[in-house]
Amino acid sequence: MLPERFVKMFKDAFNVDPVCENNDQKVCIFEEDNKIIVKQDGRVVAQFEDNEDDYATILQYYAKKAGLMTPHAKEIEELLRSLFVNIIILTEVEDKNGFSHSQRVAKMAEEFARFLGWSDEQAVELRNHALLHDVGKIAIEQLMLYSPTRLRTLELHYQDHPTMGAIYLSINESLWQYIPTARNHHERWDGKGFPEGLKGEEIPFYARIMAIIDYYDEVTNFVSADWDSEIKTPSQALNEIKALSGKFFDPQLTEKFIDFMTNVYGIRT
Ligand SMILES: [Fe+2]
Ligand SMILES: [Fe+2]
Repeated sequence: MLPERFVKMFKDAFNVDPVCENNDQKVCIFEEDNKIIVKQDGRVVAQFEDNEDDYATILQYYAKKAGLMTPHAKEIEELLRSLFVNIIILTEVEDKNGFSHSQRVAKMAEEFARFLGWSDEQAVELRNHALLHDVGKIAIEQLMLYSPTRLRTLELHYQDHPTMGAIYLSINESLWQYIPTARNHHERWDGKGFPEGLKGEEIPFYARIMAIIDYYDEVTNFVSADWDSEIKTPSQALNEIKALSGKFFDPQLTEKFIDFMTNVYGIRT
């Protein structure tokens, strides 16, 4: 039996029990002769004396072998993510309820994930992707600050924000998981989006979800030359999304999104 305190630390770090059920398990941790042993592909790769001072090191070692985030990396991820999210929210326009674009997209993304029956963990993961999808707009704000023609700068550089987002998120390995969403949320199902012109399932899954929710939030909240001239009602927006299925958006996801909006928000097409 692994020491009780070690099991607790393991559970806190990885949200699962350290079980070693069979030898097929790629990376496995267990106790034998008062030693903590790590096996990989059925082979012993490390053994540690049972010493409380070494538990953190053993967890780091296990995480690395199992391809999991170490408790330390998790802390860094949380810290950097919340730093970016706060800057994003500061630069966005607040609506009458006190929410901004990224917050609304994040809320809807989480609700959509739950509607699809995803676990709490996956729903929160999608919310975090959503909160960071427009992180690259910080760069555009910086450019606009020193520009005498602010709106011209915005128009000229708007299409750079997915790439800028990827650059911001590359500063630390713990944020790399969010890059595909930030970089590809303006790709289109038909391959006519930007920045890379990816097509269909080449577009990362979370980015395809973000494209739909992002569009919905934009057209129902902003007056923009890109999306025609006036703010759309939820039902108009949903009809547009339906019409753009297979063109802008993943058809299967579009169908699910329409189901979600009808069932959760009572909006009809
Ligand atoms: Fe965007
Ligand atoms: Fe957006």
